[in-house]
Amino acid sequence: MGKITIAIDGYSSTGKSTVAKQLADYLGYVYVDSGAMYRAVTLYAMQNGIISKNHFDTAKLKESLPLIHLKFYKEPNWGKAHIFLNGKDVEDKIRNLEVSKFVSPIATIHEVRAKLVAQQKQMGLEKGVVMDGRDIGTIVFPQAELKIFMNASAKERAQRRYKELLERGENIQYIEVLKNIQDRDHIDTTREDSPLVKAADAIEIDNSEMNLEDQFHTVLQLAKDRIAGRV
Ligand code: CDP
Repeated sequence: MGKITIAIDGYSSTGKSTVAKQLADYLGYVYVDSGAMYRAVTLYAMQNGIISKNHFDTAKLKESLPLIHLKFYKEPNWGKAHIFLNGKDVEDKIRNLEVSKFVSPIATIHEVRAKLVAQQKQMGLEKGVVMDGRDIGTIVFPQAELKIFMNASAKERAQRRYKELLERGENIQYIEVLKNIQDRDHIDTTREDSPLVKAADAIEIDNSEMNLEDQFHTVLQLAKDRIAGRV
């Protein structure tokens, strides 16, 4: 049966990447975490004096883009592909709250988006891909056969992310995580270029009250129907 393209968009910490990965593993598709790409560009900007608390040199960021090379690579024994920034595995480094604080401003820059979207489109040329992000169903793969838009209450999302960060050993407060999620929601939905919106043909899933298994089965059934051409 022919492979399809699956786009999963939504607010931060809605569990997009968990369900996208489960789906890709089950279907034998490639999973692409587009947020990891924005996070890796952010890490580069932090490491190169482009962004810090009260400073954002957008001109230098734009100039630096040709020097930023991103690649996903997976060893057979890794659960998921890691992102490499200029040849270095930065999968772990890009997940902290520090990067989360700067990523949404970085993701408003048109030139950054144009570069990453072009690479994302390339990765989807052969279909058989599940990609999660903010603009996948609207900009990256507007023709995707299945589009999901995920949501959950901000409090529920902050709880989930707080727990994840604590498990990683980060020394943070719940309130900081909640604020970061609210700030990112605001920037991501109001930016001029490719704001986070539900595509007209996306199916919305609110998983505030769903466990991982229910969520996976709901999305898997939708994918199976699309693959079989039933809907
Ligand atoms: O996992 P989490 O929900 O924290 O976010 P992410 O998917 O890692 O994305 C981090 C940030 O990158 C988002 O808050 C957006 O600002 C940006 N992003 C974007 O603009 N477009 C995408 N396709 C993916 C992420």
